[in-house]
Amino acid sequence: MFFHKSSKHRSASVDFAHLPRHIAIIMDGNGRWAKKRGLPRTAGHAAGAENFRTIATYCKEIGLEYLTVYAFSTENWSRPQEEVSAIMGLLKQYLVEAIGKMERDRVKMKFFGDLSPLSQELRDLCAQTEEISRHYEGVQVNICLNYGGRDEILRGVRAFAAACAAGETAPGFLDEETFGQYLDSAGVPDPDLVIRPSGEQRLSNFLLWQSAYAEFYFTEALWPDFSKDELHRALAAYQSRSRRFGGV
Ligand code: IPE
Ligand code: IPE
Ligand code: MG
Repeated sequence: MFFHKSSKHRSASVDFAHLPRHIAIIMDGNGRWAKKRGLPRTAGHAAGAENFRTIATYCKEIGLEYLTVYAFSTENWSRPQEEVSAIMGLLKQYLVEAIGKMERDRVKMKFFGDLSPLSQELRDLCAQTEEISRHYEGVQVNICLNYGGRDEILRGVRAFAAACAAGETAPGFLDEETFGQYLDSAGVPDPDLVIRPSGEQRLSNFLLWQSAYAEFYFTEALWPDFSKDELHRALAAYQSRSRRFGGV
């Protein structure tokens, strides 16, 4: 099935029969979106959360297997206290709503990151969300919370070292596949496509290990404005690439 879309930028034809298995998105640009409208940054986060609902639902509709989104980084704690609290509040609101609509939406959800510094209430909501949605088929959405690629690698290294110290394994057994099992993304294939809206062209500590061979797509659109059309353009760009994985 081909979808032809004409837009003011350029038309994007997506071959929906050959989608990437796993798309990862750095949901950036909420603050600038709000500033442009003379609104507080928190209004941008609310608009960003709303857009996340739209895009996640759409990914299920088109039959994507995995969507991973960067919602809060290990570095984002350095923001003003009011902004961090507002983001945590929106997160809680999102999870409560998602749990309420779970039987209808049937989206499998997982959380990546070190959840231990989050409030007990939020951690319980995350655990509940994962538990209820565990058996759902279709798209799996991974939400990265207090996530940092370096932190994830260090947590994995510590867990492997602990298993060695306990005599359960030994350094010689560690290869890329085994190490992958110690990461938050255990069991999830590497992202094929990493999208960053908002014009920034950097990883900001996102999926460092897993992005080794990802294709990147950058757009000036701010996350709350990142529409289905924008996603189509990203998918079309992805489908025009030649992935060689070091071969010829
Ligand atoms: C991304 O939007 C959301 C989080 C990092 C939580 P930003 O808040 O970084 O938006 P900009 O980059 O300031 O526009
Ligand atoms: C990356 O965005 C983190 C999230 C989108 C959650 P940032 O806005 O925090 O990244 P930098 O500071 O521009 O690198
Ligand atoms: Mg930002």
